[in-house]
Amino acid sequence: MITSPTRPLIAPSLLAADFARLGEETRAVEQAGADWLHLDVMDGHFVPNITFGPLVVKALRKHTSMPMDVHLMIAPADPYITAFAEAGADHISVHPESGPHLHRTLQLIRSLGKKAGVVLNPATPVEAVVNVLDLTDIIMVMTVNPGFGGQAFIASQLAKIATLRRMIDETGRDIVLQIDGGITPKTAHEVLRAGANCLIAGTAVYGAPDYAAAITALRAAAPATSALNAAAGTG
Ligand code: DX5
Ligand code: ZN
Repeated sequence: MITSPTRPLIAPSLLAADFARLGEETRAVEQAGADWLHLDVMDGHFVPNITFGPLVVKALRKHTSMPMDVHLMIAPADPYITAFAEAGADHISVHPESGPHLHRTLQLIRSLGKKAGVVLNPATPVEAVVNVLDLTDIIMVMTVNPGFGGQAFIASQLAKIATLRRMIDETGRDIVLQIDGGITPKTAHEVLRAGANCLIAGTAVYGAPDYAAAITALRAAAPATSALNAAAGTG
């Protein structure tokens, strides 16, 4: 189980990094205080963009000790999950729409000793994850349509985040609630207030001149009354 964080976890998305220097860019965010490295895998079919596969994940494994948080935007996903696990992914997250048997896919990820995540697109209802919560370590809410970095935050997802926070709390389990897309210090404040505890940020980190300052600014966006600060005894 992933332990409940007492401050927001920050997962820079390598999608916004300099792809000619991926090893260096990985080390740079680790040194800047990042918690997880977010890796966006796109196939040009499930989403209208293409990035990289297990070979790149494997090459980056030796550049970091951060957990590698792999976001699969590919369909089908199942045939590639073992390859990503063997490449060194620590968390593997899938969209329910990428295959017919989400329960089986999560079982497969867990059977490989990895944390299993479910990703909800802006139009995907929370019901998509309700019946597989026992197999879920991470719920990722997309606050943009997947495929590209640098898009505008979709505020209608805040209500979904709040609903998921209640659902997670009812389970009594430490399911991480992470948010992907359009995260800035301002939107970070809103999603953390709604109950998120992990921020994925591409442009906000890799587009900034000082990665450490950018990560600090995202962490500082946590509202004083959030569950995170309450857990830390400061709320
Ligand atoms: C989009 C990806 C995101 C992307 C976020 O499909 O899943 O991880 O990198 O980029 P920003 O933070 O720039 O919105
Ligand atoms: Zn992502």
